[in-house]
Parts: sequence; C-alpha cells; structure tokens
Amino acid sequence: MISKKKIEAFIFDLDGVLTDTAEYHYLAWKRLADEEGLPFSRKDNEQLRGVSRRASLDLILKGRNVSEKKIQEMMDRKNGYYRSYLETVSEKDLLSGAVELLDRLKKKGIRLALASASKNAPTVIDKLGIVGYFEVIADGNSVEKTKPAPDLFLYAAEQLNLEPQVCLVIEDAEAGIAAAQAAGMHTIGIGPVERVGAADFVYPSVAEIKVEEII
Ligand code: BG6
Ligand code: MG
Repeated sequence: MISKKKIEAFIFDLDGVLTDTAEYHYLAWKRLADEEGLPFSRKDNEQLRGVSRRASLDLILKGRNVSEKKIQEMMDRKNGYYRSYLETVSEKDLLSGAVELLDRLKKKGIRLALASASKNAPTVIDKLGIVGYFEVIADGNSVEKTKPAPDLFLYAAEQLNLEPQVCLVIEDAEAGIAAAQAAGMHTIGIGPVERVGAADFVYPSVAEIKVEEII
C-alpha cells in the first residue's frame, strides 16, 4: 500500500479487463506475420499484452531492418484486420462481472476513468455500450509514451483532477501494473500471479474482485 488516503477513482484498462480483444489482436498480427513470412505464435502474442501497436510490431520484427514507410504500412494493415474483427463486438463481449463492478463502484460514488493503450479504445467501449460510465477516457492517442511508462495513468488522474495516491488501476498486463506503480497508484492485477503478481491485489478475473476488501 502506498498511502492510507481514501481511494476516490478506479482507472480501468480495457483489453483483458473489461473485454477480451487479445484474441482479435492476435488474429490480426498473425495474418500480417503470415503475409510477411514472419514467425509468430500465441506464446509470442502473450508478450504483446498491453503493449502499443508500434512496440508490438517491433517485438514481432525482432530487430529486422525494415524501412519506416514499410513499418507504417504494416501497422495500418494490421489495424485494418483488427478493425474488421471488431465489427461484430457488442455487449455480449463484456467479460463476466464487468458491468456489475462498474455499477457497484458508481453507486459507491467512486469516479471512473478508462486508460487503454489502444487507439481503438473509443470504438470498442462504444460497441460494448459502456461509454457512459467513464468521466475520463485516455487512449493510445492521449500520450506519447505508452505503458510501462506512467504517462497514460498520470494523464487520466490529471483529467480527473486527482492525485495519483487516491487512484486505483485495474490491469491485466505486467507492463500495465508497472506503469501504474510508476505513477504512484494502487493496483489490482487480473490474471495469474506469474503475470500480475506485483500488484497490491490479484484476482483471477474481474468477477472475483471484492470491492469492500479494497476501499
Ligand atoms: C492494448 C492491447 O490495449 O492496446 C495491445 O493490450 C495493443 O495488444 C494496444 O497492441 C494498442 O492497440 P491499438 O488498437 O492502438 O493497435
Ligand atoms: Mg490489458
């Protein structure tokens, strides 16, 4: 625990916390990788959790010498594939317990923000039907430096006009937990301890979060 101050806001990551778009990111990267003859497996995809589009491509390219123009073209192509998979996303794709948690926090007077590395986050939350829950929406366009840098979470806290110490971040990525801690915020990790064990609280899924235990 960083401080004993009362938690005033929850800052939510999107992919892997409120919905599981990781599979769509995987399919889109896989399609690009196959077209380019680059090896890319589901195991490789795990490393991309929470990582920006550009950093993800750098990890897939593994130091190959590729022109900036080609890099931009590959990112656009992957994003086109990803957006085509997003077409079918709707409320049915919310992870179990997600809306219940948002409702419970709202009722308790906790302020809510979204902080996702994805430039597609506004489209995704619109399709999920949860835009109205968030006072602040920070996405891949909000800051230059993405997770594990603290910038996105600090930006969200600034927009809420709150100190980092009264904010709690919910994340499923190792890079996301590191970013929130670098920002001086409390953390809930969703997933296995091997991945999010550094968080203050760890739960296997959003449905298992015990709000009373935390605030
Ligand atoms: C994160 C995902 O939320 O957003 C990453 O976990 C993804 O897998 C990143 O690469 C960037 O997303 P986008 O939509 O801007 O390409
Ligand atoms: Mg995530």
